[in-house]
Amino acid sequence: MPTESRLRSVGVVLAGGVGQRVGLNTPKQLIKIAGKTILEHTLGLFDRSPEIDEIIVLMTPGFTSDVEDIVARGGFGKVSQIIEGGESRTETTWRALKALGPHECNVLLHDAVRPLLEPRIITECVNALQTYQAVDVAIPSSDTVVVAAPGPRGEIIRDIPDRSRIKRGQTPQCFRLSVIREAYERAFNDPDFDKHPATDDCGVVLRYLPDVPIVLVPGSEHNIKVTHPVDVHIADKLFQLAAATAPKPTPQAYREALHGRSLVVFGGSYGIGADIVDLAGSYGAQVHSFSRTQNGVRVEDYASVAKALAEVGHVDYVVNTAGVLHMGKLAEVTDDTIADTVNVNYLGPVNVARASYEYLRASRGRLLLYTSSSYTRGRANYSLYSSTKAAVVNLTQALADEWATDGIRVNCVNPERTSTPMRERAFGEEPAHTLLSPRAVAQTSLDVLISDLTGQVIDVRLDGVITV
Ligand code: CTP
Repeated sequence: MPTESRLRSVGVVLAGGVGQRVGLNTPKQLIKIAGKTILEHTLGLFDRSPEIDEIIVLMTPGFTSDVEDIVARGGFGKVSQIIEGGESRTETTWRALKALGPHECNVLLHDAVRPLLEPRIITECVNALQTYQAVDVAIPSSDTVVVAAPGPRGEIIRDIPDRSRIKRGQTPQCFRLSVIREAYERAFNDPDFDKHPATDDCGVVLRYLPDVPIVLVPGSEHNIKVTHPVDVHIADKLFQLAAATAPKPTPQAYREALHGRSLVVFGGSYGIGADIVDLAGSYGAQVHSFSRTQNGVRVEDYASVAKALAEVGHVDYVVNTAGVLHMGKLAEVTDDTIADTVNVNYLGPVNVARASYEYLRASRGRLLLYTSSSYTRGRANYSLYSSTKAAVVNLTQALADEWATDGIRVNCVNPERTSTPMRERAFGEEPAHTLLSPRAVAQTSLDVLISDLTGQVIDVRLDGVITV
């Protein structure tokens, strides 16, 4: 609850659009990115923000029950109202303002389709509202903006405003309720407003209350609006980057998440798997390691995986590091090599996932798989390896989606070249400084395992810098 000296702050999530430009047959705010719908990401940001007291959601007509499900599933306790949006964005805002009741408050109007808003921006907006009545979020324009006009043959440039003065507006746009309401009342009483509608809320204040200064809070390049199909891919990569650069858990957090928990590792006899066994054990996890050499468990054989899990009984975390890397041109490899690569690298994760499902559903547990940096682009001489690793990424995303309602989280770690026996067999000895240590990959694996992420590919790189 707000203290007496602080006004109540309401996050208004504008999700009333259809997303024509993305062009799917469902509103774009319901597209899943990084394991959750865009709307869920955005609601989570406001729900977790200590500055926000209440949330209202304006949703595309016909889809409010989807929001009810999302709110119930996500436990977003601050959501007080779910209302149908209007025909235009300004209509939607107007509906929100009418739903807000008589008491003065801070209103933060945010595009639902900006799911990468940083908590820092919410804090700075609410702080700015202690002094100002209107606040916008903007970033410098890296492009030169040109003003176009109709010419004799198509468009011509009418003006090139000085780029140093040009900024790109984002959201949230934040106001005292009385101020934004006054501006909207004037707008809707103006017969001209229909002919020249504003595209955002600051535009309405600027036009109808020109004496109210609108101060700027610095936005972020990551706070993109998912508008065109390409933005879905960019947002996906930005989530991946955010996950990889999140602060590392403390030793205490590791112990809390792992102590007394049951962790099963397939492929735990050497390399990354062995280091996970070791590390998780040091945090008090009950670790069960299975592999071909240790106990004859072969991931390519469903029955042997199922039997191993049945022996363990209760399972919180499942990790599959088993993999093989056979080099060779496709036209020259043998049938046995093809079968071994496909069976261990692809059928293996499928078997592990399928056999783990009932255990992970019971514990609302987590599954972690492994890919390779070659998944984004097939490489000559190991076509089978890279294509099976691409399949694992696809499998991860599909399962994260399929199992979201069961509370199971599924992710995939993508280690850069790692110094493992598997790699040495394939590539021979390589300079140590060019290789990641299996220990570092194991540590990141545990970070991912105990995080709330799902449906993500987390890169681990030698220089610690994560590229997208
Ligand atoms: N919005 C809204 N009500 C509308 C139109 C838009 O609440 N009638 C919301 C959208 O849901 C989105 C934000 O305003 O969160 C930004 O709008 P935009 O990206 O233009 O979304 P759409 O209108 O959905 O997209 P398009 O123009 O491609 O149809």
